[in-house]
Amino acid sequence: MSQIETSQPSGDAAGLPARAAALDILGAALSGRSGLDAGLAHPAVKALEPRDRAFARALAMATLRHLGPIDAALQARVKKPPPERVVNLLRIGAAQLFLLKTPPHAAVDSTVGLTPPAFKGLVNAVLRGLTREPPNLADPDIMAPPWLYARWRAVFGEAEARNLAALIAQEPATDLSLKDAGQAEVLAAALEAEVLPGGTLRTERGGDVTGWPGFDEGAWWIQDASAAVPVRLLDAKPGETALDMCAAPGGKTLQLAAAGASVTALDRSGPRLQRVAENLARTGLSAEVVEADAATWADGRAFDAVLLDAPCSATGTFRRHPDVLWVARPSDVVSLAAVQSRLLDAAARRVKPGGRLVYCVCSLEPEEGEAQVAGFLGRMSGFTLDPIAPGEAGAPEASLRPDGTLRILPHHRPGGTDGFYIARFRHA
Ligand SMILES: C[S@@+](CC[C@H](N)C(=O)[O-])C[C@H]1O[C@@H](n2cnc3c(N)ncnc32)[C@H](O)[C@@H]1O
Repeated sequence: MSQIETSQPSGDAAGLPARAAALDILGAALSGRSGLDAGLAHPAVKALEPRDRAFARALAMATLRHLGPIDAALQARVKKPPPERVVNLLRIGAAQLFLLKTPPHAAVDSTVGLTPPAFKGLVNAVLRGLTREPPNLADPDIMAPPWLYARWRAVFGEAEARNLAALIAQEPATDLSLKDAGQAEVLAAALEAEVLPGGTLRTERGGDVTGWPGFDEGAWWIQDASAAVPVRLLDAKPGETALDMCAAPGGKTLQLAAAGASVTALDRSGPRLQRVAENLARTGLSAEVVEADAATWADGRAFDAVLLDAPCSATGTFRRHPDVLWVARPSDVVSLAAVQSRLLDAAARRVKPGGRLVYCVCSLEPEEGEAQVAGFLGRMSGFTLDPIAPGEAGAPEASLRPDGTLRILPHHRPGGTDGFYIARFRHA
């Protein structure tokens, strides 16, 4: 079980705002997709002192990363579930006790202090009971929601499912993509980073990234090592045209622009495209930014290289977004798979004869990956799979499938990585 280092607010009334904020972040994160980001960006959280804000974030994230075993421990002690906010109080109480090294009296007293009067006795009794019999919060078999874990066991096998579930509890390092690969050594030294295969920098640095060397100059952007693979596989050259069909917030658009391609970045979300524009401005890169539905975009152009980083259940991103595991529903996979098929057909219509198409999703679910490729090849004549070579683009060799597509599982890279499925096609 990981212990999270963070400075602690006191356990008395002075420490309550940070804990109340953690409670609100947790409630927002579990309320639906994008809830975690909304919770972290809430004005009440932003208004906290930096130390309290860091504690609130660390507490909410530690709770989400261990939600499976925390809930198992609580269910064993609470016969009739109390209201959701009281359940969340018990969850952050348990996380303080066993993950944040909060002294037991401070964890219990502060949690009871935030609890409505009718439930103070229950919260006090449950948390004190846990301190007497500490639960095992590191069991991979209860890290993920049961329905999802059952799927992973069926698809990947018992051992692989365990290995990937074991990463749910781990806090990831920060991965960076560089504007200029020639700067890798200099920036790696300045950022105390390791250079991964493919050129991603990985650093264990903490704190505000806007103060890190190279941020103001736009020398890098945050992008998980797996997320950097699809654009490398497209291999867009200076002078070529490239279309990024689902572009926001823009990590892959930046890679395409840095490669020298003439890039069109499409997304249907205006607010998310604003982030693409900000990222382009900071890095001094350029792209044509278009707000449109990619499935119905009325534009006659075809491109040398097309990327479809499709909307998906995002179950592969659980290291940075542990909330995705708990808000995803089996029906999401079905409905998103239908969207992905429609977008893949639209992407194919944009590829020039002889051009390349890369399809990717940060999902671990085969309906959104392998099944999309099989369906596409069955529907669409004129496209063939362009098999990815071992080690190409810095992808882990363990991720390469016999058909030349990539199924990157989070444990395929030492230290972890986002889960991705990636396929490359060529237009006749
Ligand atoms: C996985 S994210 C893309 C991440 C992005 N490629 C990056 O690397 O930063 C999926 C994006 O698809 C967009 N999207 C969803 N449906 C779309 C559609 N029909 N047309 C265009 N964009 C869409 C969402 O707004 C979201 O920004």
